[in-house]
Amino acid sequence: MLEKIKQTAEFLRSRVGGEMPKVAVILGTGLGSLVDHIDEKLYIPYSEIPNFPVSTVQGHSGNLIFGTMGGKRVMAMQGRFHYYEGYDMKTVTFPVRVMKELGVETLFVSNAAGGMNKEFVVGDVMIITDHINLFPENPLRGKNYEELGPRFPAMTEPYSKELVALADAIGQEKGMRLMHGVYVGTTGPTFETPAEYEYFRVIGGDAVGMSTVPEVIVARHADMRVFGISVITDLGGKDITEVPSHEEVQKAALKAQPTVEALMVSMVERC
Ligand code: HPA
Repeated sequence: MLEKIKQTAEFLRSRVGGEMPKVAVILGTGLGSLVDHIDEKLYIPYSEIPNFPVSTVQGHSGNLIFGTMGGKRVMAMQGRFHYYEGYDMKTVTFPVRVMKELGVETLFVSNAAGGMNKEFVVGDVMIITDHINLFPENPLRGKNYEELGPRFPAMTEPYSKELVALADAIGQEKGMRLMHGVYVGTTGPTFETPAEYEYFRVIGGDAVGMSTVPEVIVARHADMRVFGISVITDLGGKDITEVPSHEEVQKAALKAQPTVEALMVSMVERC
């Protein structure tokens, strides 16, 4: 694995040239247009990157994008690798390993999620303050490479409190409605049953989705700072009868896009 990480990083260094970014962004479902805010873009399709798998889901295009945002060098993943696609955890999280190898210190993640918190409405933007890993596997299972991080990493502050505070300050300045909450990560690809949404709420979850947790675990293992947001694209629980679909999720994510973009751009500028 160490060899593959180095090989991929070396390829990207030579393709991109110049200074490597200290900030990376993983763009979730329907949030891909954040790339419109990246200047001097260089697109590298995943299919051209050694050791990268190819993204398979409709609505997730697969490109690594290098450029600048608010004058800062950034790299962005347009499309991520999901466990439900059949990739193993090492593959899902491989790009985060490469980011670290390139020198990335801060990771921004975004996703679409179903809301269990009764105060949420569709289109809300939730700052992730913590998560619950309900994937059947931890991406760090197996041999630990001390070069990458410790065998038993603490997860006391999975999402940077400092960055959450910065987001709140930006939200206040710009008059945004920003919710806080705990993200529950599950495998999918099924959306939840009413009883499952209820269960996730009872155990302390505010929103549920099919991504993010593996990448955040690997980023924290490597001591990167993490900031995450969920767009609430549907609501679930025992009294909710609306049927979620991938199309609805994408539509709702589009609605929240202006808020998400404004927040993310300011965060990158000021982090
Ligand atoms: N459940 C799981 N993943 C999701 C949901 C949901 O309700 N909405 C968007 N991604």
